[in-house]
Amino acid sequence: MSPVKKLTVGLGERRYDILIAEGLLRDLGSLVRPLLSSDGPVAVVTDENVWGAYSDAASASLAASGVKFEPIVLPPGEGNKSMSGLATVYDGFAGLGVTRNGLVIAFGGGVIGDLCGFAAATWMRGARFVQVPTTLLAQVDSSVGGKTAINLPQGKNLAGAFHQPSLVVIDTGLLGTLPDREIKNGMSEVVKYGAIRSESLFEALGRRPGPELPDVIFECCRIKGEIVERDERDFGERMLLNFGHTLGHAIERQSGYEGYRHGEAVAFGSVLAASMGERMGVTEPGSAEALRRTLALHGLETDYPGDVSELLPALASDKKNLGGEVNMVLLRRIGDAFVRRTGLSEIASALEGLGRWT
Ligand code: NAD
Ligand code: GLY
Repeated sequence: MSPVKKLTVGLGERRYDILIAEGLLRDLGSLVRPLLSSDGPVAVVTDENVWGAYSDAASASLAASGVKFEPIVLPPGEGNKSMSGLATVYDGFAGLGVTRNGLVIAFGGGVIGDLCGFAAATWMRGARFVQVPTTLLAQVDSSVGGKTAINLPQGKNLAGAFHQPSLVVIDTGLLGTLPDREIKNGMSEVVKYGAIRSESLFEALGRRPGPELPDVIFECCRIKGEIVERDERDFGERMLLNFGHTLGHAIERQSGYEGYRHGEAVAFGSVLAASMGERMGVTEPGSAEALRRTLALHGLETDYPGDVSELLPALASDKKNLGGEVNMVLLRRIGDAFVRRTGLSEIASALEGLGRWT
């Protein structure tokens, strides 16, 4: 196993560690054992792909430390981050007799992390949970910070709660079985961290050979952890993590959540947001081009091939649209972002003529 890197998210009595190493799944049992305060089995919420690949390793580690557990295995995919997926998890918790003193492990990508986290947040008004993220997106973003949610027919992440995990266990070796497209999906969020907060990370991502993935994951978790410590409830600085997301969400919506993975849509959204900022005179010229180069180096498409004008209705129905304004995250320059309440008409004129426009 590679040396374990450790970060702490300092949230007072809800503080927790993020542990990062290749091969760390082997230590899962000994890491969760000290968190157990009841005799009931630990529920491991996971999906078929992850459990298919890692049930032996996870089971052996938990059993070796005397941790009693039962898996709750869902089909893979965003469709399970839903009322019916939640019902399956609640049924599993009830069947296993999970109590408020019990422990739950989210073992999977962002879908499992968000679903299991929300189930834990609401089970008996709050059970503790451990995040064991298995996708790059989940290792650099969704497993840290305590945002949990399910989707409703009316929209994404509409039912949710802030519920911090008790521990995050990141085994970077698990990314070895992740399809290429999922790696790119996560790299888009990695580039985002560089764009909003770290010019040095951004520059490193633009070099070949680039930095080692475990170092990149550590840096992203460090940046996110610091932001969450200062703004856990997303009233200010945490909104910076939404760089590229306002337009990215509009692109996902426009494609019916089927055409693009989240990170792919965010890559388009980031380039559009940087281009808009340059046009508005608030972003250093050349930033959009730098983003294009770096995202493309990591295999992401950068120029939205759809009709940009068609994104405007989706922006208008954004759940954060208040009085015709949305919070746009814009760049001053690479490594330095800010939030600006921006009118939809200003966005429309800054976007006009970018990409395809009818
Ligand atoms: P995902 O969880 O659907 O995983 C993608 C695919 O990879 C799935 O098919 C899964 O079975 C498979 N997979 C996972 N780990 C694997 C592994 N190690 N080897 C092989 N296959 C593996 O998708 P995701 O991109 O991880 O997460 C997307 C979700 O995350 C969205 O619902 C999004 O809203 C949410 N999210 C939440 C936050 C947050 O702060 N809570 C932040 C960003 C995104
Ligand atoms: N992924 C955005 C956040 O955690 O705030």
